[in-house]
Amino acid sequence: MNTVSGWCDAPRTSTVATVEIYAVVNQKGGVGKSATTKNLAAALAAQGDRVLVVDLDPQGHLSDALGLPEPQPPATLAEAMLGAYTGPLREIIQTHESSGLDVLAWSLDMFLLEPKLYAAQGKEFRLMHLLEQVDDGSYDVCLIDCPPSLAALTDNALVASQRRKGKRSGVFIPVQAEDSSLRALRLLFGQVQSLEHSLRIQVEMIGLVVNLYDKRRGRIVTTTLDALRELPLPILAIIDDRSTIREAWRAHEPVAIYDPTSEAATWYGDLAKALRASR
Ligand SMILES: Nc1ncnc2c1ncn2[C@@H]1O[C@H](COP(=O)(O)OP(=O)(O)OP(=O)(O)O)[C@@H](O)[C@H]1O
Ligand SMILES: [Mg+2]
Repeated sequence: MNTVSGWCDAPRTSTVATVEIYAVVNQKGGVGKSATTKNLAAALAAQGDRVLVVDLDPQGHLSDALGLPEPQPPATLAEAMLGAYTGPLREIIQTHESSGLDVLAWSLDMFLLEPKLYAAQGKEFRLMHLLEQVDDGSYDVCLIDCPPSLAALTDNALVASQRRKGKRSGVFIPVQAEDSSLRALRLLFGQVQSLEHSLRIQVEMIGLVVNLYDKRRGRIVTTTLDALRELPLPILAIIDDRSTIREAWRAHEPVAIYDPTSEAATWYGDLAKALRASR
Protein backbone atom coordinates (compact mmCIF):
# COMPACT_ATOMS: atom_id res chain seq x y z
CA MET A 1 0.00 0.00 0.00
CA ASN A 2 1.02 3.56 -0.53
CA THR A 3 2.81 5.67 1.99
CA VAL A 4 3.34 9.40 1.73
CA SER A 5 6.17 8.90 -0.70
CA GLY A 6 4.53 6.02 -2.51
CA TRP A 7 1.59 7.69 -4.30
CA CYS A 8 1.62 6.98 -7.95
CA ASP A 9 -0.47 8.47 -10.68
CA ALA A 10 -1.30 5.30 -12.55
CA PRO A 11 -4.00 2.73 -11.81
CA ARG A 12 -3.04 -0.78 -10.85
CA THR A 13 -4.14 -2.92 -13.73
CA SER A 14 -2.59 -6.24 -12.83
CA THR A 15 -4.72 -7.12 -9.79
CA VAL A 16 -8.15 -8.74 -9.98
CA ALA A 17 -10.78 -6.78 -8.06
CA THR A 18 -12.76 -8.45 -5.28
CA VAL A 19 -15.06 -5.54 -4.46
CA GLU A 20 -17.51 -3.66 -6.68
CA ILE A 21 -16.97 0.09 -6.36
CA TYR A 22 -19.75 2.50 -7.28
CA ALA A 23 -19.62 6.30 -7.17
CA VAL A 24 -22.93 8.07 -6.58
CA VAL A 25 -22.47 11.25 -8.54
CA ASN A 26 -24.28 14.39 -9.64
CA GLN A 27 -22.82 17.87 -9.32
CA LYS A 28 -26.36 19.19 -8.88
CA GLY A 29 -27.13 19.67 -5.19
CA GLY A 30 -29.98 18.08 -3.27
CA VAL A 31 -30.93 15.46 -5.87
CA GLY A 32 -30.58 12.52 -3.47
CA LYS A 33 -26.97 11.33 -3.73
CA SER A 34 -26.65 10.76 0.02
CA ALA A 35 -30.15 9.29 0.34
CA THR A 36 -29.44 6.89 -2.55
CA THR A 37 -26.04 5.90 -1.14
CA LYS A 38 -27.36 5.26 2.35
CA ASN A 39 -30.54 3.44 1.37
CA LEU A 40 -29.08 1.37 -1.45
CA ALA A 41 -26.13 0.39 0.75
CA ALA A 42 -28.46 -0.75 3.53
CA ALA A 43 -30.68 -2.64 1.08
CA LEU A 44 -27.61 -4.47 -0.26
CA ALA A 45 -26.51 -5.27 3.30
CA ALA A 46 -30.00 -6.53 4.16
CA GLN A 47 -29.70 -8.94 1.21
CA GLY A 48 -26.41 -10.30 2.49
CA ASP A 49 -23.71 -8.10 0.97
CA ARG A 50 -20.81 -6.82 3.02
CA VAL A 51 -20.89 -3.12 2.27
CA LEU A 52 -18.47 -0.25 2.79
CA VAL A 53 -19.76 3.30 2.42
CA VAL A 54 -17.48 6.29 1.86
CA ASP A 55 -18.67 9.78 2.81
CA LEU A 56 -16.60 11.83 0.39
CA ASP A 57 -18.65 15.00 0.79
CA PRO A 58 -17.15 17.75 3.00
CA GLN A 59 -20.73 18.58 4.02
CA GLY A 60 -20.85 15.21 5.82
CA HIS A 61 -24.57 14.71 5.21
CA LEU A 62 -24.28 10.94 4.87
CA SER A 63 -22.43 10.55 8.17
CA ASP A 64 -25.03 12.83 9.75
CA ALA A 65 -27.86 10.78 8.24
CA LEU A 66 -26.36 7.70 9.90
CA GLY A 67 -25.62 9.51 13.18
CA LEU A 68 -21.95 8.53 13.13
CA PRO A 69 -19.34 10.06 15.43
CA GLU A 70 -16.54 12.06 13.87
CA PRO A 71 -13.21 10.25 13.45
CA GLN A 72 -10.38 12.15 15.13
CA PRO A 73 -7.14 13.18 13.38
CA PRO A 74 -4.79 11.78 12.39
CA ALA A 75 -6.92 8.68 11.71
CA THR A 76 -9.34 10.35 9.27
CA LEU A 77 -10.21 9.81 5.63
CA ALA A 78 -8.91 13.28 4.76
CA GLU A 79 -5.52 12.66 6.40
CA ALA A 80 -5.32 9.25 4.75
CA MET A 81 -6.04 10.73 1.31
CA LEU A 82 -3.34 13.35 1.89
CA GLY A 83 -0.86 10.67 2.95
CA ALA A 84 -0.48 12.17 6.44
CA TYR A 85 -2.10 9.10 8.00
CA THR A 86 -0.45 5.91 6.79
CA GLY A 87 -1.95 3.46 9.27
CA PRO A 88 -4.52 0.84 8.31
CA LEU A 89 -7.74 2.13 6.75
CA ARG A 90 -9.61 -0.25 9.07
CA GLU A 91 -8.69 2.00 12.00
CA ILE A 92 -10.88 4.71 10.46
CA ILE A 93 -13.80 2.51 9.42
CA GLN A 94 -16.72 2.42 11.82
CA THR A 95 -19.82 0.26 11.81
CA HIS A 96 -23.37 1.63 11.81
CA GLU A 97 -24.91 -0.68 14.35
CA SER A 98 -28.45 -1.40 13.19
CA SER A 99 -27.69 -1.77 9.47
CA GLY A 100 -24.24 -3.34 9.83
CA LEU A 101 -22.86 -0.91 7.25
CA ASP A 102 -19.17 -0.12 7.51
CA VAL A 103 -18.50 3.56 6.90
CA LEU A 104 -15.58 5.89 6.26
CA ALA A 105 -17.25 8.82 7.91
CA TRP A 106 -16.94 12.59 7.68
CA SER A 107 -14.62 14.63 9.87
CA LEU A 108 -14.09 18.38 9.97
CA ASP A 109 -10.76 18.20 8.13
CA MET A 110 -12.67 17.12 4.98
CA PHE A 111 -13.23 20.85 4.39
CA LEU A 112 -9.56 21.44 3.63
CA LEU A 113 -9.06 18.25 1.68
CA GLU A 114 -10.01 19.54 -1.77
CA PRO A 115 -7.71 22.60 -1.81
CA LYS A 116 -4.88 20.54 -0.33
CA LEU A 117 -5.35 17.82 -2.94
CA TYR A 118 -4.73 20.30 -5.75
CA ALA A 119 -1.10 20.57 -4.69
CA ALA A 120 -0.70 16.81 -4.33
CA GLN A 121 0.92 14.42 -6.75
CA GLY A 122 -1.48 11.91 -8.34
CA LYS A 123 -4.38 13.79 -6.78
CA GLU A 124 -7.14 11.91 -8.63
CA PHE A 125 -5.83 8.48 -7.57
CA ARG A 126 -5.72 8.96 -3.80
CA LEU A 127 -9.03 7.30 -2.95
CA MET A 128 -8.49 4.46 -5.42
CA HIS A 129 -5.18 3.59 -3.80
CA LEU A 130 -6.66 3.76 -0.29
CA LEU A 131 -9.49 1.44 -1.26
CA GLU A 132 -6.97 -1.13 -2.48
CA GLN A 133 -6.53 -1.89 1.24
CA VAL A 134 -10.10 -3.21 1.40
CA ASP A 135 -9.94 -4.97 -1.96
CA ASP A 136 -8.97 -8.17 -0.14
CA GLY A 137 -12.26 -10.08 -0.14
CA SER A 138 -13.64 -8.41 2.99
CA TYR A 139 -16.37 -6.45 1.14
CA ASP A 140 -18.72 -7.19 -1.74
CA VAL A 141 -19.62 -3.59 -2.51
CA CYS A 142 -18.28 -0.10 -1.81
CA LEU A 143 -20.51 2.93 -2.41
CA ILE A 144 -19.04 6.43 -2.52
CA ASP A 145 -21.24 9.44 -1.77
CA CYS A 146 -19.91 12.41 -3.76
CA PRO A 147 -20.14 16.15 -3.10
CA PRO A 148 -22.25 18.39 -5.37
CA SER A 149 -19.35 19.50 -7.55
CA LEU A 150 -17.16 18.28 -10.39
CA ALA A 151 -13.83 18.86 -8.69
CA ALA A 152 -10.99 16.80 -7.21
CA LEU A 153 -13.09 14.77 -4.76
CA THR A 154 -15.59 13.68 -7.40
CA ASP A 155 -12.66 12.91 -9.73
CA ASN A 156 -11.27 10.63 -6.99
CA ALA A 157 -14.59 8.81 -6.78
CA LEU A 158 -14.79 8.43 -10.58
CA VAL A 159 -11.23 7.07 -10.73
CA ALA A 160 -11.91 4.65 -7.85
CA SER A 161 -15.02 3.38 -9.67
CA GLN A 162 -13.27 2.84 -13.02
CA ARG A 163 -13.55 -0.47 -14.89
CA ARG A 164 -11.28 -3.11 -13.37
CA LYS A 165 -10.70 -6.79 -13.95
CA GLY A 166 -12.85 -9.15 -11.91
CA LYS A 167 -15.71 -6.98 -10.67
CA ARG A 168 -18.23 -4.57 -12.07
CA SER A 169 -17.81 -0.97 -10.99
CA GLY A 170 -19.15 2.36 -12.18
CA VAL A 171 -21.37 5.33 -11.58
CA PHE A 172 -24.92 5.77 -10.30
CA ILE A 173 -26.52 9.10 -11.08
CA PRO A 174 -29.42 10.22 -8.89
CA VAL A 175 -31.43 12.78 -10.81
CA GLN A 176 -34.64 14.74 -10.40
CA ALA A 177 -37.20 14.92 -13.17
CA GLU A 178 -36.89 18.64 -13.84
CA ASP A 179 -35.66 20.75 -16.77
CA SER A 180 -32.26 21.68 -15.32
CA SER A 181 -31.36 18.01 -14.85
CA LEU A 182 -30.65 17.43 -18.52
CA ARG A 183 -28.04 20.19 -18.70
CA ALA A 184 -26.48 18.89 -15.47
CA LEU A 185 -26.24 15.42 -16.99
CA ARG A 186 -24.53 16.77 -20.11
CA LEU A 187 -21.94 18.47 -17.92
CA LEU A 188 -21.40 15.29 -15.92
CA PHE A 189 -21.00 13.13 -19.04
CA GLY A 190 -18.49 15.69 -20.36
CA GLN A 191 -16.48 15.56 -17.15
CA VAL A 192 -16.41 11.76 -17.17
CA GLN A 193 -15.30 11.71 -20.81
CA SER A 194 -12.55 14.24 -20.23
CA LEU A 195 -11.30 12.30 -17.19
CA GLU A 196 -11.36 9.05 -19.17
CA HIS A 197 -9.32 10.72 -21.88
CA SER A 198 -6.79 12.51 -19.67
CA LEU A 199 -6.23 9.65 -17.19
CA ARG A 200 -6.64 6.80 -19.70
CA ILE A 201 -9.33 5.07 -17.67
CA GLN A 202 -12.79 3.75 -18.51
CA VAL A 203 -15.79 4.47 -16.34
CA GLU A 204 -19.08 2.61 -16.77
CA MET A 205 -22.20 4.71 -16.34
CA ILE A 206 -24.43 2.14 -14.62
CA GLY A 207 -27.61 4.19 -14.80
CA LEU A 208 -29.95 6.83 -13.42
CA VAL A 209 -31.92 6.76 -10.20
CA VAL A 210 -34.82 9.17 -10.68
CA ASN A 211 -35.44 10.58 -7.22
CA LEU A 212 -37.94 12.81 -5.45
CA TYR A 213 -40.40 11.93 -8.18
CA ASP A 214 -43.86 13.44 -7.83
CA LYS A 215 -46.04 13.23 -10.90
CA ARG A 216 -48.65 15.48 -9.26
CA ARG A 217 -46.27 18.32 -10.15
CA GLY A 218 -47.51 17.95 -13.71
CA ARG A 219 -46.12 18.06 -17.22
CA ILE A 220 -42.66 19.42 -16.36
CA VAL A 221 -42.01 16.30 -14.33
CA THR A 222 -43.60 13.76 -16.65
CA THR A 223 -42.06 15.19 -19.84
CA THR A 224 -38.61 15.35 -18.21
CA LEU A 225 -38.97 11.71 -17.24
CA ASP A 226 -39.75 10.99 -20.92
CA ALA A 227 -36.59 12.91 -21.92
CA LEU A 228 -34.53 10.95 -19.39
CA ARG A 229 -35.90 7.73 -20.89
CA GLU A 230 -34.50 8.81 -24.27
CA LEU A 231 -30.94 8.92 -22.92
CA PRO A 232 -28.64 5.99 -23.74
CA LEU A 233 -28.55 5.12 -20.05
CA PRO A 234 -30.97 2.89 -18.16
CA ILE A 235 -33.31 4.24 -15.50
CA LEU A 236 -32.64 1.80 -12.68
CA ALA A 237 -35.29 3.04 -10.26
CA ILE A 238 -37.90 5.72 -9.77
CA ILE A 239 -38.06 6.78 -6.13
CA ASP A 240 -41.03 8.96 -5.18
CA ASP A 241 -40.86 11.85 -2.78
CA ARG A 242 -41.75 10.09 0.47
CA SER A 243 -41.81 11.36 4.05
CA THR A 244 -40.47 7.96 5.24
CA ILE A 245 -37.15 8.82 3.59
CA ARG A 246 -36.91 12.14 5.47
CA GLU A 247 -38.07 10.56 8.74
CA ALA A 248 -35.50 7.77 8.43
CA TRP A 249 -32.85 10.44 7.82
CA ARG A 250 -33.79 12.21 11.05
CA ALA A 251 -33.80 8.88 12.93
CA HIS A 252 -30.23 8.21 11.64
CA GLU A 253 -31.37 5.01 9.99
CA PRO A 254 -31.71 3.77 6.41
CA VAL A 255 -35.31 3.11 5.36
CA ALA A 256 -34.59 -0.66 5.28
CA ILE A 257 -34.22 -0.46 9.06
CA TYR A 258 -36.52 2.46 9.89
CA ASP A 259 -39.55 1.07 8.06
CA PRO A 260 -38.71 -2.19 6.25
CA THR A 261 -42.29 -2.68 5.03
CA SER A 262 -42.55 0.79 3.48
CA GLU A 263 -42.80 1.30 -0.28
CA ALA A 264 -39.55 3.27 -0.14
CA ALA A 265 -37.76 0.27 1.41
CA THR A 266 -39.18 -1.92 -1.38
CA TRP A 267 -37.88 0.43 -4.11
CA TYR A 268 -34.35 0.39 -2.70
CA GLY A 269 -34.65 -3.37 -2.11
CA ASP A 270 -35.59 -3.87 -5.78
CA LEU A 271 -32.66 -1.72 -6.90
CA ALA A 272 -30.31 -3.79 -4.72
CA LYS A 273 -31.78 -7.03 -6.12
CA ALA A 274 -31.26 -5.84 -9.71
CA LEU A 275 -27.67 -4.89 -8.96
CA ARG A 276 -26.97 -8.26 -7.33
CA ALA A 277 -28.68 -10.09 -10.21
CA SER A 278 -26.40 -8.31 -12.72
CA ARG A 279 -23.27 -9.91 -11.19
N1 LIG B 1 -37.09 10.28 -2.34
C1 LIG B 1 -37.07 11.17 -1.34
N2 LIG B 1 -38.19 11.49 -0.67
C2 LIG B 1 -38.16 12.38 0.33
N3 LIG B 1 -37.08 13.03 0.74
C3 LIG B 1 -35.93 12.76 0.10
C4 LIG B 1 -35.84 11.82 -0.96
N4 LIG B 1 -34.56 11.77 -1.39
C5 LIG B 1 -33.87 12.63 -0.64
N5 LIG B 1 -34.70 13.24 0.25
C6 LIG B 1 -34.34 14.29 1.20
O1 LIG B 1 -33.94 15.42 0.43
C7 LIG B 1 -32.81 16.04 1.01
C8 LIG B 1 -31.69 16.07 -0.03
O2 LIG B 1 -31.31 14.73 -0.31
P1 LIG B 1 -29.78 14.30 -0.30
O3 LIG B 1 -29.06 14.97 0.83
O4 LIG B 1 -29.72 12.84 -0.38
O5 LIG B 1 -29.31 14.97 -1.66
P2 LIG B 1 -27.80 15.15 -2.16
O6 LIG B 1 -27.79 15.08 -3.64
O7 LIG B 1 -26.94 14.21 -1.43
O8 LIG B 1 -27.51 16.63 -1.65
P3 LIG B 1 -26.06 17.36 -1.70
O9 LIG B 1 -25.85 17.74 -3.13
O10 LIG B 1 -26.22 18.54 -0.79
O11 LIG B 1 -25.07 16.37 -1.21
C9 LIG B 1 -32.47 15.27 2.27
O12 LIG B 1 -33.06 15.92 3.37
C10 LIG B 1 -33.14 13.91 2.05
O13 LIG B 1 -33.58 13.32 3.26
MG1 LIG C 1 -25.23 14.56 -0.30
